Amino acid sequence: MKLLFINIKELLQVRETSIEKLSGKEMKSLPSLNNAWLLVDNKTIIDYGSMDNLPELEVDETIDATGKMIMPTWCDSHTHLVYAGNRELEFGQRIKGMTYEEIASKGGGILNSAKTLQETSEEVIYEQSVVRLEEVMRLGTGAIEIKSGYGLTKEAELKMLRVIKKLKENYTLPIKATFLGAHALPSEYKEKKVEYIDYVINEILPEVAAQGLAEYIDIFCEKGYFTVEDTQKLLAAGKKYGLKPKIHVNQFNAIGGVQTGIENDALSVDHLEEMRPEDINSLKNSTTMPVALPGCSLFLSIPYTPGRKMIDAGLPLALATDFNPGSCPSGNMNLVVSLACIKMNLTPEEAINAATINGAYAMELSKTHGSITKGKIANLIVTKPIPSYTYLPYSFGSNNIDSVYINGKKLK
Ligand code: NIG
Ligand code: FE
Repeated sequence: MKLLFINIKELLQVRETSIEKLSGKEMKSLPSLNNAWLLVDNKTIIDYGSMDNLPELEVDETIDATGKMIMPTWCDSHTHLVYAGNRELEFGQRIKGMTYEEIASKGGGILNSAKTLQETSEEVIYEQSVVRLEEVMRLGTGAIEIKSGYGLTKEAELKMLRVIKKLKENYTLPIKATFLGAHALPSEYKEKKVEYIDYVINEILPEVAAQGLAEYIDIFCEKGYFTVEDTQKLLAAGKKYGLKPKIHVNQFNAIGGVQTGIENDALSVDHLEEMRPEDINSLKNSTTMPVALPGCSLFLSIPYTPGRKMIDAGLPLALATDFNPGSCPSGNMNLVVSLACIKMNLTPEEAINAATINGAYAMELSKTHGSITKGKIANLIVTKPIPSYTYLPYSFGSNNIDSVYINGKKLK
C-alpha cells in the first residue's frame, strides 16, 4: 500500500540521517520542509520532497494535506497507563487542602491504587487500559512506555505486566514495559523495607525476567519511599537479568538518585522537579536522558523541572506524560508540549524535539521512530489546518489533530 501525502503546508522534524538524541544545543532547531510531499510504502517512510519537484509516482492513495502539517507521532517514554479505577476522591481531598504526601501516609495514593488493582480482574484491567491507550493514540502518541507498580505483590505485578504484554500483542505501536515493583512499600511490609526489596529482587524479578515481561526496571527513589541504597541494590539485581534502569528520581527531594541512575547506566532519569547544581553536572557527558513530566507538576502544584536551565547547560531533555491515576490523570502529550513552553520556558522547537526524538531515545526507539527520516516507521500526526507549528503549544487545550497514522495505517 503506497500513500502519497501532497500539498503539506509544513513537514516537521525532517532528519536526513538517523540520529540517536539531541543535545540542548541541537534541540534549538526543528528542521522542516514547506509545501512538501511525503511517500509512505506500507509501514515505512520512503521519500519526501518539495511540491516544486513532485516526481511521477504510482501510488494506491493520494492524500491532500493542504493547510495541514505532518510530523512524527509523540513518543511518550513514561506512563503508568495500566491501572484499575481512579482516584478522583483524593483529588477532592487535595482541593480541600490535604497534600499528596498526607493522603499517601494515610494509606491512600499508590497503596490505594494497588488495593483496587489487586481486587480487579486481569480482563477488566485490560479493558480499562485499552480505553486509555486508544485515547492517547488519537491524541497523537505513536510509541509508549508503560510501567507496572500498582501490584506490589508477585501475583498482581505479574498481572499488570501481562496486561501490558496483551496491549503489545493487540496494538501496532511500539510499547515498552517497565517493572516497577519498588513503587511503594505495601502496608504488610511497614518497618520491613529490606524484606520488601528482597522480595522484589528474589521473588518477583526472576519471574518477570523468565516470562520476558519487561524491558526496563524502575524504582521510586524518594524520601519516605526508597533510598539510594535500595535503588543501587535493585538496579544491580535488574542488570543481571538484562533490565536497564529508567527511574523515578528528584520528584519531591534530591537525594542522589540521579547519580545512582547514571552509575547504573540508566536509560533515563525521570521527574527531576528538584534539581541541585550537582545533579545537572552529573548528567553532562552521560548517556542517560533526563525526562520531565510537566503534567504531574500541574496536577500536584509542585515545581516544574528546570528544563530551561538544563537545556542551557547543554543537556538533552525528553518530555513525557506520567499518565497515572494519582499525580497525572492525563496522557495528553499535546498538553505536555504546551506546558513545557508555558511553564518551563522551552521554545516550541525544543518542546517538539523533546516530545519526539528525545522521547524515542528514552525508549531505545530512535532508530525507527521520532523523526521524518527515510526508512523510519510511518507513525505520523496530520494536523488540522494551523498557521504555524508554534500554534500547537500556543493553542493549549485545543485538539489540533486531524488524523494519526500508525505503521502507515490511519487510525479510525
Ligand atoms: O510518577 N512518583 C511516583 N509514581 C507516580 C505517581 C503514583 C501515584 O500517585 O499513583 C508518579 O508521579
Ligand atoms: Fe511516574
